[in-house]
Amino acid sequence: MARIYLDHAATTPLDNGILEKMLPYFTMEFGNADSPHATGRKAMNAVDFARDNVAELINAKPNEVFFTSGGTEADNWALQGGAYAAKEKGKTHIILSAIEHHAVLGAAEKLQREGFDVTYLPVNEGGRVELNSLKAALTEQTGLVAVMAANNETGVLQPIQELAEIAHSVGAVFFTDGVQAAPYMPIDVKAWGVDMLSMSSHKFYGPKGCGVLYIKNGVKVKGLIVGGEQERGLRGGTTNVPAVVGFSAAYRKATAEMAENNEKICAVRKAFLEGISALNGVQINGEGLPAVLNLRIKGVNNVDLVYKMDLEGVSIAAGSACASASIKPSHVLLAMGMSEEQAKECVRISFGKNNTEEEAYEAAKIFVSVVEKLRKN
Ligand SMILES: Cc1ncc(COP(=O)(O)O)c(C=O)c1O
Repeated sequence: MARIYLDHAATTPLDNGILEKMLPYFTMEFGNADSPHATGRKAMNAVDFARDNVAELINAKPNEVFFTSGGTEADNWALQGGAYAAKEKGKTHIILSAIEHHAVLGAAEKLQREGFDVTYLPVNEGGRVELNSLKAALTEQTGLVAVMAANNETGVLQPIQELAEIAHSVGAVFFTDGVQAAPYMPIDVKAWGVDMLSMSSHKFYGPKGCGVLYIKNGVKVKGLIVGGEQERGLRGGTTNVPAVVGFSAAYRKATAEMAENNEKICAVRKAFLEGISALNGVQINGEGLPAVLNLRIKGVNNVDLVYKMDLEGVSIAAGSACASASIKPSHVLLAMGMSEEQAKECVRISFGKNNTEEEAYEAAKIFVSVVEKLRKN
């Protein structure tokens, strides 16, 4: 059997038809979108079309959509740009959940070194931020609150609308990392009540290296990358036109197919869980997005399990892709109350729209046999 890929939270393959939409902007329509001549204008038209498309899909206005080099840049921008703007109003306190992606955590650590006060919100055993903990952490000094919509390691969803309302009660700006939620949930920035939201194209079968930061009109955010007037003077750098075109086309497709894809993924997840049901000592860590399954396999080291599964032709992860090169236990699972030893027994299996139930049963069979062998050693 061909390799079975169960690591869609790390990245997804480019979808059918997306490359074809991108190709002309590498070759025939290669213009710099900021050049005023016809070659440049053609490229800019494609960027404008993409911006309008994304804006419509997330219920924003086109001038609220900013293209970036990916989710990491969008997260860095939201945190730093939001915090620096808040500081100008005398607000130097920021709040974020303890389970944010490293792109957000790293930016917060930088801000802390620069003198900002940072509060990390705990999560409960199920991986959710409690509304009361945000209420308790807010002060008149709070300028920015960041809580992700869906976690990349567990798939757990957060009550974004309620959290945003609470943040607004002291006039703080509310940012949500929507990178993992975007492929599976319709995003409506107005209904969610968020001021900023990040997305990344390679999580919904678009190209790598392209993201979006939504910034609500009227919300003050400083630019992060200087040296050019692109993205309304807030994000310097020649626009990556093919990637922007790919982002837009892939997100349109993902949104149109969302219900159908979610249904497929639920069936695949069910098949995998059925296939491993004979194993004892298995615990599911937090539940939310059906695509993400975080399992603790008692008595088995996650790095060994991922390695052996790989040798057997199945790609899974021991946490997030960014952390998988390190052997540190997951900060997300620790925040959910696990010990370091328990967290090192956890793996992330993430399903995609192209997985079949047959593959899920096959992967589960391999998983059971690998776990049994590892437990005997
Ligand atoms: C929740 C979350 N935020 C941000 C990122 C970073 O996105 P990118 O890979 O586009 O830099 C990821 C990627 O794994 C993610 O899962």
